[in-house]
Amino acid sequence: MAKVNFLLVGSGGREHAIAEALCRNPDAVLFAYMSSRNPGIAALCKSSGGDYEIGDICKADAVAKWAKEKKIQLAFSSPDATLEAGVSDALIAAGIQTASPTREASRLEWDKTFARNLMKKYKIAGCPKFFVCKNEKEANAAIDALHGNVAVKPAGLTGGKGVKVTGYQLKDSAEAKAYAAEVLQTKMGSIPQVVIEEKLEGEEFTFQAFVDGKTVFGMPLVQDHKRALEGDIGVNTGGMGAYSTGLMLPFLEPSDYSDAHEIMKATIDAYAKESGKQFVGVLYGQFIATSKGVKVIEFNARFGDPEAMNVLAVFDGNLLGVFEGMAKGEIKRENISFLHAATVCKYLVPEGYPVKSIANQPLEIDDAALRKSGARLFFASVDEREGKIYTGSSRNIGIVGVADDVAVAEKIAEDACDAVSGKVWHRKDIGTKKLLDRRIGHMKKLREDMKGI
Ligand code: AMP
Ligand code: GLY
Repeated sequence: MAKVNFLLVGSGGREHAIAEALCRNPDAVLFAYMSSRNPGIAALCKSSGGDYEIGDICKADAVAKWAKEKKIQLAFSSPDATLEAGVSDALIAAGIQTASPTREASRLEWDKTFARNLMKKYKIAGCPKFFVCKNEKEANAAIDALHGNVAVKPAGLTGGKGVKVTGYQLKDSAEAKAYAAEVLQTKMGSIPQVVIEEKLEGEEFTFQAFVDGKTVFGMPLVQDHKRALEGDIGVNTGGMGAYSTGLMLPFLEPSDYSDAHEIMKATIDAYAKESGKQFVGVLYGQFIATSKGVKVIEFNARFGDPEAMNVLAVFDGNLLGVFEGMAKGEIKRENISFLHAATVCKYLVPEGYPVKSIANQPLEIDDAALRKSGARLFFASVDEREGKIYTGSSRNIGIVGVADDVAVAEKIAEDACDAVSGKVWHRKDIGTKKLLDRRIGHMKKLREDMKGI
Protein backbone atom coordinates (compact mmCIF):
# COMPACT_ATOMS: atom_id res chain seq x y z
CA MET A 1 0.00 0.00 0.00
CA ALA A 2 1.28 3.47 -0.80
CA LYS A 3 0.95 6.33 1.69
CA VAL A 4 -2.70 7.24 2.32
CA ASN A 5 -3.95 10.62 3.56
CA PHE A 6 -6.55 9.51 6.10
CA LEU A 7 -9.08 11.82 7.76
CA LEU A 8 -10.50 11.03 11.18
CA VAL A 9 -13.37 13.21 12.41
CA GLY A 10 -13.73 13.43 16.21
CA SER A 11 -11.58 14.08 19.27
CA GLY A 12 -12.60 11.77 22.14
CA GLY A 13 -10.90 8.80 23.80
CA ARG A 14 -12.49 6.52 21.20
CA GLU A 15 -10.97 8.58 18.39
CA HIS A 16 -7.53 8.62 20.05
CA ALA A 17 -7.71 4.80 20.15
CA ILE A 18 -8.72 4.69 16.45
CA ALA A 19 -5.87 7.06 15.55
CA GLU A 20 -3.35 5.00 17.51
CA ALA A 21 -4.43 1.70 15.90
CA LEU A 22 -4.44 3.27 12.45
CA CYS A 23 -0.96 4.77 12.80
CA ARG A 24 0.54 1.37 13.61
CA ASN A 25 0.50 1.11 9.80
CA PRO A 26 3.36 3.31 8.53
CA ASP A 27 1.39 4.02 5.34
CA ALA A 28 -1.24 5.99 7.28
CA VAL A 29 -0.79 9.76 7.17
CA LEU A 30 -3.25 10.99 9.79
CA PHE A 31 -5.34 14.12 9.44
CA ALA A 32 -7.95 14.96 12.08
CA TYR A 33 -10.89 17.34 12.25
CA MET A 34 -11.54 17.86 15.95
CA SER A 35 -13.97 19.88 18.07
CA SER A 36 -11.15 20.48 20.56
CA ARG A 37 -7.48 19.66 20.42
CA ASN A 38 -6.88 16.10 21.64
CA PRO A 39 -3.14 16.09 22.44
CA GLY A 40 -2.77 12.39 21.63
CA ILE A 41 -4.40 12.69 18.21
CA ALA A 42 -2.55 15.94 17.46
CA ALA A 43 0.79 14.22 18.20
CA LEU A 44 -0.09 11.28 15.89
CA CYS A 45 -1.04 13.70 13.10
CA LYS A 46 2.34 15.37 13.37
CA SER A 47 4.41 12.19 13.71
CA SER A 48 2.72 10.53 10.72
CA GLY A 49 3.21 13.60 8.51
CA GLY A 50 -0.42 14.79 8.60
CA ASP A 51 -2.23 17.76 10.11
CA TYR A 52 -5.29 18.72 12.15
CA GLU A 53 -7.98 21.36 12.28
CA ILE A 54 -10.17 22.52 15.15
CA GLY A 55 -13.75 23.38 14.25
CA ASP A 56 -17.41 22.35 14.43
CA ILE A 57 -17.25 18.66 13.48
CA CYS A 58 -20.96 18.68 12.58
CA LYS A 59 -20.51 21.33 9.86
CA ALA A 60 -20.39 18.74 7.10
CA ASP A 61 -19.47 21.12 4.28
CA ALA A 62 -16.59 22.71 6.21
CA VAL A 63 -15.18 19.28 7.07
CA ALA A 64 -15.39 18.18 3.42
CA LYS A 65 -13.82 21.45 2.20
CA TRP A 66 -10.84 21.02 4.55
CA ALA A 67 -10.54 17.37 3.49
CA LYS A 68 -10.34 18.41 -0.18
CA GLU A 69 -7.65 20.99 0.63
CA LYS A 70 -5.62 18.33 2.43
CA LYS A 71 -6.00 15.84 -0.45
CA ILE A 72 -7.64 13.25 1.80
CA GLN A 73 -8.03 9.85 0.13
CA LEU A 74 -9.87 7.90 2.83
CA ALA A 75 -12.07 9.19 5.66
CA PHE A 76 -13.89 7.99 8.77
CA SER A 77 -16.30 10.17 10.70
CA SER A 78 -16.62 8.72 14.17
CA PRO A 79 -19.07 10.41 16.62
CA ASP A 80 -22.83 9.82 16.33
CA ALA A 81 -23.71 13.51 15.99
CA THR A 82 -21.47 13.84 12.90
CA LEU A 83 -23.17 10.88 11.25
CA GLU A 84 -26.62 12.40 11.81
CA ALA A 85 -25.25 15.72 10.51
CA GLY A 86 -24.28 14.05 7.21
CA VAL A 87 -20.50 14.39 7.43
CA SER A 88 -19.99 11.07 5.61
CA ASP A 89 -22.39 12.20 2.86
CA ALA A 90 -20.47 15.46 2.34
CA LEU A 91 -17.15 13.58 2.17
CA ILE A 92 -18.58 11.11 -0.36
CA ALA A 93 -20.00 14.01 -2.41
CA ALA A 94 -16.48 15.52 -2.43
CA GLY A 95 -15.23 12.32 -4.08
CA ILE A 96 -13.48 10.94 -0.97
CA GLN A 97 -13.65 7.24 -0.13
CA THR A 98 -15.51 7.08 3.19
CA ALA A 99 -15.65 4.22 5.67
CA SER A 100 -18.38 5.63 7.94
CA PRO A 101 -22.15 5.41 7.39
CA THR A 102 -24.24 8.01 5.60
CA ARG A 103 -26.91 10.01 7.41
CA GLU A 104 -29.53 7.63 6.03
CA ALA A 105 -27.67 4.47 7.13
CA SER A 106 -26.92 5.85 10.59
CA ARG A 107 -30.65 6.33 11.12
CA LEU A 108 -30.36 2.87 12.72
CA GLU A 109 -28.83 4.83 15.61
CA TRP A 110 -30.32 8.30 15.58
CA ASP A 111 -33.96 7.23 15.21
CA LYS A 112 -34.95 4.46 17.61
CA THR A 113 -38.37 4.18 15.91
CA PHE A 114 -36.67 3.36 12.60
CA ALA A 115 -34.49 0.63 14.14
CA ARG A 116 -37.38 -1.00 16.00
CA ASN A 117 -39.81 -0.80 13.07
CA LEU A 118 -37.18 -2.33 10.77
CA MET A 119 -36.70 -5.23 13.19
CA LYS A 120 -40.45 -5.75 13.40
CA LYS A 121 -41.11 -5.51 9.65
CA TYR A 122 -38.34 -7.99 8.78
CA LYS A 123 -39.12 -10.28 11.76
CA ILE A 124 -35.57 -9.98 13.10
CA ALA A 125 -34.99 -12.00 16.28
CA GLY A 126 -34.28 -10.23 19.57
CA CYS A 127 -36.78 -7.39 19.31
CA PRO A 128 -38.59 -6.65 22.59
CA LYS A 129 -42.25 -5.60 22.66
CA PHE A 130 -42.36 -1.89 21.88
CA PHE A 131 -44.71 1.00 21.10
CA VAL A 132 -43.87 4.18 19.21
CA CYS A 133 -45.93 6.97 20.79
CA LYS A 134 -46.67 10.48 19.46
CA ASN A 135 -48.65 11.76 22.43
CA GLU A 136 -49.21 11.22 26.15
CA LYS A 137 -52.40 9.22 25.64
CA GLU A 138 -50.56 6.66 23.50
CA ALA A 139 -47.60 6.56 25.91
CA ASN A 140 -49.86 5.98 28.94
CA ALA A 141 -51.71 3.18 27.12
CA ALA A 142 -48.37 1.56 26.17
CA ILE A 143 -47.08 1.73 29.75
CA ASP A 144 -50.32 0.12 31.00
CA ALA A 145 -50.16 -2.57 28.30
CA LEU A 146 -46.67 -3.50 29.55
CA HIS A 147 -47.86 -3.48 33.20
CA GLY A 148 -45.50 -0.60 34.03
CA ASN A 149 -42.34 -2.68 33.42
CA VAL A 150 -40.87 -0.43 30.79
CA ALA A 151 -37.93 1.45 29.33
CA VAL A 152 -38.89 4.97 28.26
CA LYS A 153 -36.74 6.18 25.36
CA PRO A 154 -36.63 9.48 23.52
CA ALA A 155 -36.65 8.52 19.81
CA GLY A 156 -33.64 10.70 18.89
CA LEU A 157 -30.05 11.08 20.11
CA THR A 158 -29.48 12.07 23.74
CA GLY A 159 -25.80 11.19 24.24
CA GLY A 160 -26.74 7.93 25.99
CA LYS A 161 -28.45 9.74 28.84
CA GLY A 162 -32.12 9.88 27.80
CA VAL A 163 -33.31 6.35 28.56
CA LYS A 164 -35.01 5.67 31.90
CA VAL A 165 -36.21 2.30 33.16
CA THR A 166 -38.73 1.42 35.88
CA GLY A 167 -37.10 -0.12 38.93
CA TYR A 168 -33.98 1.96 38.24
CA GLN A 169 -34.37 5.64 37.36
CA LEU A 170 -38.19 5.47 37.47
CA LYS A 171 -39.96 4.24 40.60
CA ASP A 172 -43.20 3.01 39.08
CA SER A 173 -45.57 3.38 36.16
CA ALA A 174 -46.72 6.83 37.36
CA GLU A 175 -43.13 8.08 37.12
CA ALA A 176 -42.75 6.34 33.75
CA LYS A 177 -45.83 8.20 32.46
CA ALA A 178 -44.56 11.50 33.83
CA TYR A 179 -41.17 10.98 32.19
CA ALA A 180 -42.74 9.98 28.84
CA ALA A 181 -44.79 13.21 29.01
CA GLU A 182 -41.62 15.22 29.71
CA VAL A 183 -39.82 13.61 26.76
CA LEU A 184 -42.71 14.54 24.46
CA GLN A 185 -43.25 18.05 25.83
CA THR A 186 -39.58 19.03 25.71
CA LYS A 187 -39.02 17.26 22.37
CA MET A 188 -36.05 15.53 23.99
CA GLY A 189 -33.75 13.96 21.38
CA SER A 190 -35.23 16.29 18.71
CA ILE A 191 -37.61 13.65 17.27
CA PRO A 192 -41.13 14.28 18.68
CA GLN A 193 -41.80 10.66 19.63
CA VAL A 194 -41.15 8.42 22.60
CA VAL A 195 -40.51 4.68 22.41
CA ILE A 196 -41.99 2.60 25.23
CA GLU A 197 -40.39 -0.82 25.47
CA GLU A 198 -40.78 -3.97 27.49
CA LYS A 199 -38.20 -3.91 30.31
CA LEU A 200 -35.61 -6.62 29.78
CA GLU A 201 -33.74 -8.36 32.58
CA GLY A 202 -30.28 -9.81 32.03
CA GLU A 203 -26.64 -8.98 31.36
CA GLU A 204 -25.72 -6.44 28.71
CA PHE A 205 -22.90 -6.79 26.22
CA THR A 206 -21.56 -4.85 23.26
CA PHE A 207 -21.03 -6.51 19.88
CA GLN A 208 -19.07 -4.27 17.49
CA ALA A 209 -18.49 -5.26 13.88
CA PHE A 210 -16.82 -4.00 10.73
CA VAL A 211 -19.42 -4.02 7.96
CA ASP A 212 -18.87 -3.66 4.22
CA GLY A 213 -22.51 -3.76 3.23
CA LYS A 214 -22.62 -7.55 2.87
CA THR A 215 -20.51 -9.15 5.58
CA VAL A 216 -20.48 -8.56 9.34
CA PHE A 217 -16.98 -9.10 10.81
CA GLY A 218 -17.50 -9.36 14.57
CA MET A 219 -15.00 -8.10 17.12
CA PRO A 220 -14.42 -9.37 20.68
CA LEU A 221 -17.41 -8.76 22.96
CA VAL A 222 -17.15 -6.05 25.60
CA GLN A 223 -19.16 -5.16 28.69
CA ASP A 224 -19.55 -1.43 29.33
CA HIS A 225 -20.60 0.21 32.64
CA LYS A 226 -23.05 3.03 32.08
CA ARG A 227 -23.92 3.76 35.69
CA ALA A 228 -21.77 6.37 37.40
CA LEU A 229 -21.01 4.59 40.67
CA GLU A 230 -19.47 1.35 41.87
CA GLY A 231 -21.94 -1.51 42.20
CA ASP A 232 -23.88 -0.19 39.16
CA ILE A 233 -25.76 2.53 40.95
CA GLY A 234 -26.17 6.24 40.25
CA VAL A 235 -27.12 8.04 37.09
CA ASN A 236 -26.34 6.89 33.56
CA THR A 237 -23.17 8.20 31.93
CA GLY A 238 -21.61 7.84 28.49
CA GLY A 239 -19.77 4.79 29.96
CA MET A 240 -17.35 4.67 32.92
CA GLY A 241 -15.24 1.82 31.62
CA ALA A 242 -15.43 -1.64 30.10
CA TYR A 243 -13.73 -5.01 30.00
CA SER A 244 -13.29 -7.88 27.57
CA THR A 245 -11.96 -11.40 28.02
CA GLY A 246 -11.12 -12.56 24.50
CA LEU A 247 -13.82 -13.07 21.88
CA MET A 248 -16.41 -14.09 24.50
CA LEU A 249 -17.52 -12.78 27.89
CA PRO A 250 -17.53 -15.19 30.85
CA PHE A 251 -21.30 -15.05 31.45
CA LEU A 252 -22.22 -15.87 27.84
CA GLU A 253 -22.67 -19.10 25.88
CA PRO A 254 -21.07 -19.47 22.41
CA SER A 255 -24.60 -19.45 20.93
CA ASP A 256 -25.13 -15.93 22.34
CA TYR A 257 -22.26 -14.70 20.12
CA SER A 258 -23.63 -16.41 17.02
CA ASP A 259 -27.20 -15.25 17.75
CA ALA A 260 -26.02 -11.65 18.11
CA HIS A 261 -24.00 -11.99 14.91
CA GLU A 262 -27.06 -13.27 13.02
CA ILE A 263 -29.17 -10.39 14.31
CA MET A 264 -26.59 -7.87 13.06
CA LYS A 265 -26.44 -9.58 9.65
CA ALA A 266 -30.24 -9.71 9.39
CA THR A 267 -30.37 -6.01 10.28
CA ILE A 268 -27.97 -4.86 7.57
CA ASP A 269 -29.76 -7.11 5.06
CA ALA A 270 -33.10 -5.59 6.09
CA TYR A 271 -31.63 -2.10 5.78
CA ALA A 272 -30.44 -2.94 2.25
CA LYS A 273 -33.89 -4.25 1.25
CA GLU A 274 -35.65 -1.27 2.76
CA SER A 275 -33.42 1.46 1.33
CA GLY A 276 -31.85 -0.10 -1.74
CA LYS A 277 -28.48 0.95 -0.25
CA GLN A 278 -25.88 -0.77 1.87
CA PHE A 279 -24.74 -0.18 5.43
CA VAL A 280 -21.01 0.53 5.48
CA GLY A 281 -18.99 1.23 8.63
CA VAL A 282 -18.82 0.04 12.21
CA LEU A 283 -22.10 -1.35 13.53
CA TYR A 284 -22.53 -1.55 17.29
CA GLY A 285 -25.16 -3.82 18.76
CA GLN A 286 -26.06 -3.22 22.39
CA PHE A 287 -27.40 -6.62 23.42
CA ILE A 288 -28.80 -8.10 26.59
CA ALA A 289 -28.60 -11.82 27.35
CA THR A 290 -31.90 -12.74 28.99
CA SER A 291 -33.49 -15.99 30.14
CA LYS A 292 -35.28 -15.98 26.77
CA GLY A 293 -32.14 -15.48 24.69
CA VAL A 294 -30.31 -12.51 23.27
CA LYS A 295 -32.29 -9.28 22.75
CA VAL A 296 -31.37 -5.94 21.20
CA ILE A 297 -31.28 -2.84 23.41
CA GLU A 298 -30.19 -0.58 20.55
CA PHE A 299 -27.96 -0.20 17.51
CA ASN A 300 -25.26 2.40 17.04
CA ALA A 301 -23.60 3.21 13.73
CA ARG A 302 -20.10 3.64 15.18
CA PHE A 303 -17.56 2.29 17.65
CA GLY A 304 -18.55 2.48 21.32
CA ASP A 305 -16.81 4.82 23.68
CA PRO A 306 -15.11 3.31 25.74
CA GLU A 307 -15.56 -0.06 23.97
CA ALA A 308 -13.38 1.02 21.02
CA MET A 309 -10.44 1.27 23.40
CA ASN A 310 -10.91 -2.36 24.48
CA VAL A 311 -11.14 -3.91 21.03
CA LEU A 312 -8.53 -1.73 19.34
CA ALA A 313 -6.03 -2.48 22.13
CA VAL A 314 -6.09 -6.12 20.99
CA PHE A 315 -6.57 -5.43 17.29
CA ASP A 316 -3.69 -7.09 15.48
CA GLY A 317 -4.60 -6.54 11.83
CA ASN A 318 -4.38 -3.68 9.36
CA LEU A 319 -6.95 -1.04 10.34
CA LEU A 320 -6.11 1.16 7.35
CA GLY A 321 -6.83 -1.83 5.11
CA VAL A 322 -10.12 -2.52 6.94
CA PHE A 323 -11.26 1.10 6.52
CA GLU A 324 -10.36 0.95 2.83
CA GLY A 325 -12.32 -2.30 2.54
CA MET A 326 -15.40 -0.76 4.18
CA ALA A 327 -15.25 2.27 1.90
CA LYS A 328 -14.92 0.07 -1.20
CA GLY A 329 -17.61 -2.39 -0.06
CA GLU A 330 -15.29 -5.39 0.28
CA ILE A 331 -13.32 -6.04 3.47
CA LYS A 332 -10.42 -8.48 3.09
CA ARG A 333 -10.63 -10.97 5.93
CA GLU A 334 -6.82 -11.14 6.26
CA ASN A 335 -6.82 -7.50 7.42
CA ILE A 336 -8.77 -8.43 10.57
CA SER A 337 -7.13 -10.17 13.49
CA PHE A 338 -7.44 -9.84 17.26
CA LEU A 339 -5.09 -11.09 19.98
CA HIS A 340 -6.73 -13.48 22.42
CA ALA A 341 -6.24 -11.30 25.49
CA ALA A 342 -8.29 -9.61 28.19
CA THR A 343 -8.65 -5.84 28.42
CA VAL A 344 -9.84 -3.51 31.18
CA CYS A 345 -10.57 0.13 30.39
CA LYS A 346 -11.24 2.68 33.12
CA TYR A 347 -12.26 6.26 32.43
CA LEU A 348 -10.88 8.98 34.66
CA VAL A 349 -13.67 11.54 34.92
CA PRO A 350 -13.78 15.01 36.48
CA GLU A 351 -15.01 15.56 40.02
CA GLY A 352 -18.77 16.09 39.91
CA TYR A 353 -19.20 14.11 36.64
CA PRO A 354 -21.75 13.64 35.11
CA VAL A 355 -24.05 15.98 37.02
CA LYS A 356 -21.86 19.01 37.65
CA SER A 357 -18.34 18.44 36.35
CA ILE A 358 -15.55 20.62 37.65
CA ALA A 359 -13.44 21.34 34.58
CA ASN A 360 -10.20 23.17 33.93
CA GLN A 361 -8.25 21.48 36.72
CA PRO A 362 -4.59 20.55 36.15
CA LEU A 363 -3.67 16.86 35.80
CA GLU A 364 -0.20 15.46 36.50
CA ILE A 365 0.77 12.31 34.59
CA ASP A 366 3.72 10.44 36.09
CA ASP A 367 5.23 9.12 32.84
CA ALA A 368 7.64 6.74 34.55
CA ALA A 369 4.85 5.15 36.64
CA LEU A 370 2.60 4.94 33.59
CA ARG A 371 5.34 3.21 31.60
CA LYS A 372 6.02 0.84 34.48
CA SER A 373 2.31 -0.13 34.66
CA GLY A 374 2.37 -1.17 30.98
CA ALA A 375 -1.07 0.41 30.40
CA ARG A 376 -2.09 2.55 27.44
CA LEU A 377 -3.47 6.02 27.93
CA PHE A 378 -6.00 7.70 25.66
CA PHE A 379 -6.87 11.36 25.99
CA ALA A 380 -10.53 12.36 25.81
CA SER A 381 -12.00 15.61 27.20
CA VAL A 382 -8.80 17.43 28.13
CA ASP A 383 -7.09 20.61 27.20
CA GLU A 384 -3.33 21.08 26.79
CA ARG A 385 -1.79 24.48 27.51
CA GLU A 386 1.92 25.20 27.79
CA GLY A 387 2.70 21.52 28.10
CA LYS A 388 0.19 20.94 30.93
CA ILE A 389 -3.00 18.86 30.75
CA TYR A 390 -6.29 20.27 32.15
CA THR A 391 -9.61 18.49 32.67
CA GLY A 392 -12.56 19.17 30.37
CA SER A 393 -16.16 18.70 31.55
CA SER A 394 -16.66 15.20 30.12
CA ARG A 395 -14.71 11.94 30.50
CA ASN A 396 -11.02 12.94 30.62
CA ILE A 397 -8.65 10.02 30.12
CA GLY A 398 -9.15 6.36 29.20
CA ILE A 399 -6.67 3.91 30.70
CA VAL A 400 -6.43 0.40 29.24
CA GLY A 401 -4.70 -2.65 30.70
CA VAL A 402 -4.12 -5.67 28.43
CA ALA A 403 -3.06 -9.11 29.69
CA ASP A 404 -3.77 -12.81 29.23
CA ASP A 405 -5.88 -12.71 32.35
CA VAL A 406 -8.57 -10.15 33.21
CA ALA A 407 -7.38 -9.84 36.83
CA VAL A 408 -3.91 -8.86 35.61
CA ALA A 409 -5.35 -6.41 33.07
CA GLU A 410 -7.40 -4.86 35.88
CA LYS A 411 -4.32 -4.45 38.09
CA ILE A 412 -2.41 -2.83 35.20
CA ALA A 413 -5.25 -0.35 34.66
CA GLU A 414 -5.46 0.47 38.39
CA ASP A 415 -1.70 1.02 38.63
CA ALA A 416 -1.90 3.39 35.68
CA CYS A 417 -4.88 5.28 37.18
CA ASP A 418 -2.64 5.91 40.21
CA ALA A 419 -0.10 7.48 37.86
CA VAL A 420 -2.55 10.31 37.11
CA SER A 421 -3.17 12.84 39.86
CA GLY A 422 -5.62 15.71 39.98
CA LYS A 423 -9.33 16.28 40.48
CA VAL A 424 -10.48 13.10 38.73
CA TRP A 425 -12.02 9.83 39.89
CA HIS A 426 -12.89 6.45 38.40
CA ARG A 427 -14.86 3.28 39.11
CA LYS A 428 -12.48 0.90 40.86
CA ASP A 429 -14.78 -2.13 40.48
CA ILE A 430 -14.66 -2.46 36.67
CA GLY A 431 -12.90 -5.68 35.66
CA THR A 432 -12.53 -6.98 39.23
CA LYS A 433 -13.17 -10.61 40.13
CA LYS A 434 -15.97 -9.56 42.46
CA LEU A 435 -17.81 -7.74 39.68
CA LEU A 436 -17.28 -10.54 37.14
CA ASP A 437 -18.49 -13.16 39.62
CA ARG A 438 -21.64 -11.12 40.17
CA ARG A 439 -22.31 -11.00 36.41
CA ILE A 440 -21.69 -14.76 36.05
CA GLY A 441 -23.93 -15.51 39.06
CA HIS A 442 -26.72 -13.28 37.76
CA MET A 443 -26.75 -14.93 34.34
CA LYS A 444 -26.53 -18.44 35.82
CA LYS A 445 -29.55 -17.73 38.00
CA LEU A 446 -31.57 -16.36 35.08
CA ARG A 447 -30.78 -19.42 32.94
CA GLU A 448 -31.60 -21.81 35.81
CA ASP A 449 -34.88 -20.03 36.56
CA MET A 450 -35.78 -20.49 32.91
CA LYS A 451 -35.01 -24.22 32.99
CA GLY A 452 -37.12 -24.53 36.12
CA ILE A 453 -40.24 -23.28 34.30
P1 AMP B 1 -29.58 3.11 25.39
O1 AMP B 1 -29.36 4.60 25.43
O2 AMP B 1 -30.68 2.68 24.47
O3 AMP B 1 -28.29 2.34 25.25
O4 AMP B 1 -30.09 2.72 26.86
C1 AMP B 1 -29.36 3.04 28.00
C2 AMP B 1 -29.50 1.94 29.00
O5 AMP B 1 -30.86 1.79 29.36
C3 AMP B 1 -29.08 0.57 28.48
O6 AMP B 1 -27.71 0.34 28.55
C4 AMP B 1 -29.86 -0.33 29.39
O7 AMP B 1 -29.19 -0.50 30.63
C5 AMP B 1 -31.13 0.42 29.64
N1 AMP B 1 -32.19 -0.08 28.74
C6 AMP B 1 -32.49 0.35 27.50
N2 AMP B 1 -33.52 -0.36 26.98
C7 AMP B 1 -33.90 -1.24 27.93
C8 AMP B 1 -34.92 -2.26 28.00
N3 AMP B 1 -35.77 -2.49 27.00
N4 AMP B 1 -34.97 -2.98 29.16
C9 AMP B 1 -34.13 -2.76 30.19
N5 AMP B 1 -33.17 -1.83 30.17
C10 AMP B 1 -33.04 -1.07 29.07
N1 GLY C 1 -20.49 3.13 25.58
C1 GLY C 1 -21.73 3.32 24.99
C2 GLY C 1 -21.75 3.98 23.69
O1 GLY C 1 -20.72 4.26 23.08
O2 GLY C 1 -22.84 4.23 23.18
